[in-house]
Amino acid sequence: MAASNQKTILVTGGAGFIGSHTVVELLQQDYNVVIVDDLSNSSPIAIDRIRQIVGSQRADNLVFYQINVLNAEALGKVFEDHDIFAIIHFAGFKAVGESTQKPLEYYWNNVTGLMTTANVARAHGVKRIIFSSSATVYGEPAFIPITEDCPMAKTTNPYGETKAMCERILTDLFRADDEYSVVLLRYFNPIGAHESGLIGEDPAGIPNNLLPYVSQVAVGKLKEIHVFGNDYPTPDGTGVRDYIHVVDLARGHVAALRWLEGTVGTGTVEDAASLVGPTDEEGLRHGVAVFNLGTGTGTSVLQIIHAFEEACGHELPYVIDPRRPGDIAENYAACDKARTEMGWVAEYDIKRMCEDSWRWQSQNPNGFEG
Ligand code: UFG
Repeated sequence: MAASNQKTILVTGGAGFIGSHTVVELLQQDYNVVIVDDLSNSSPIAIDRIRQIVGSQRADNLVFYQINVLNAEALGKVFEDHDIFAIIHFAGFKAVGESTQKPLEYYWNNVTGLMTTANVARAHGVKRIIFSSSATVYGEPAFIPITEDCPMAKTTNPYGETKAMCERILTDLFRADDEYSVVLLRYFNPIGAHESGLIGEDPAGIPNNLLPYVSQVAVGKLKEIHVFGNDYPTPDGTGVRDYIHVVDLARGHVAALRWLEGTVGTGTVEDAASLVGPTDEEGLRHGVAVFNLGTGTGTSVLQIIHAFEEACGHELPYVIDPRRPGDIAENYAACDKARTEMGWVAEYDIKRMCEDSWRWQSQNPNGFEG
């Protein structure tokens, strides 16, 4: 790692879709980055591509360890070898459907993974954690647009429950010890890819999520898109979501880091989930802050399909199927809090998201492996 005055951030799951884009933004902001990833659902090629994007000088500020976060001993060695300022914790399983089939694996990996990371970190005096949460913690949301004040609801699957449990664990850590600094980032639907076309979403097997499915139909790997229901109470009957460009989302993590550092915002975050803590003599913030990361705009499945047709330049075949169990009609964020408190706002629109997804997919039809 090159000599640098900047802080070192440990990014667990840093080779994954959101993790890799976040690492690029961190390096471009001159942070040092240590990635810990077991590559169970990601490729080492993503690490090479990150280096390629940021250039050789900044690439020197990146170190990668192929480690599973459940391996406390190996993780401890990372903390011994690096002066970690904060952790951004992405490592975890994320397939909603699979989580209903493998609940034990999901609870074990996601919840024990977070606890192991927090435990090892605490033993090395690291109490700053930015957590990769999800709008799934709002369940069937009590109101839309969803503010951070919207109550956490019963989640509909084990994956969502792991996110809610991890949020509670991190909140209780601060309740017990006000040296903790926790930011819980609740993502809406991340899509798109880095504009270079070098990194993007590379799901294993048949994609569960809409965008990778659509892009694989566009590139000819899958036959037709299955639209899950067109009888929802939405303008065109198909499900409405708040899609956010993954680069905007990645920048939301840098904003959260700045918030912890006390360089943006007032620190007086107040809503049902956040707990305001003290600011220390170095100006660093303590407490639990919750932020939605979305665009505030809802887009339907059919609108996505048509935007993608524009991006790839040809029509995309689709069929209407029954609703997918567990899906809700509509889901989009109120993002005022992230704007006023962190100075963060999503910049890219659906057109740009689809263009970037298409560039990634067409340049890498088989993902990182081909
Ligand atoms: N959809 C289709 N066909 C598909 C896939 C999805 O019509 O092949 C529809 C869904 O019914 C939904 C929309 O496209 O209306 C988006 O579905 P995704 O599966 O892409 O995303 P979800 O909103 O279901 O789930 C996402 C994340 C989860 C997170 C959840 C809640 O993938 O991790 O948002 O915020 F938990």
